[in-house]
Amino acid sequence: MTKQDIVKYGDPILRKFTSRVIKFDKSLRKLVEDMFETMYANEGVGLAAPQIGVSKRVLVVDVDYPSKRYIDEQTKKEVTTYNSMVLINPVIIQKEGQIISKEGCLSFPNVYFDVIRFKKIAVKYQDLFGKERRLLAEDDLLCRCIQHEIDHLDGKLFVDKPSDEAEMKKNLQEAGFGSVSSPPPAVLIG
Ligand code: CO
Repeated sequence: MTKQDIVKYGDPILRKFTSRVIKFDKSLRKLVEDMFETMYANEGVGLAAPQIGVSKRVLVVDVDYPSKRYIDEQTKKEVTTYNSMVLINPVIIQKEGQIISKEGCLSFPNVYFDVIRFKKIAVKYQDLFGKERRLLAEDDLLCRCIQHEIDHLDGKLFVDKPSDEAEMKKNLQEAGFGSVSSPPPAVLIG
């Protein structure tokens, strides 16, 4: 596994609509390993392939990682439990409701603001072996995180969905980001 550099906002790859994964081969497994290594090293709960410079429809998530690190009483060592998930070619097939909560993004260091998301989603995706799977998420970190990461695959970023634009602009400015560009036009995918 190799930790990769995180692509920061301003790089055009973050605004590109990514390509579907066709081959479920060794190079895909290597990409996913690198993504996990990079996400954990940066203490993120999710990462999309464009964030390490690969324009493909691949995302990784581990929403338990931040809360499941603790010091073992006997060994006095830090223990981590993992709940890693990989979603390939994910598509939101059902969505409803609305939630607003604070989000950050590894491509925007030190920027946090309220973002609007669906409250409940059903997602269709493929696993590392190409098998089709589905998941439901509602009103939790997983639900928001998957929406954030799927947006990355469409060239959309959390700056496209603030609940309070003034709050977002202030946060961006304080973190050293200037004005932000628009997302690419919508593309239909199967
Ligand atoms: Co992000």
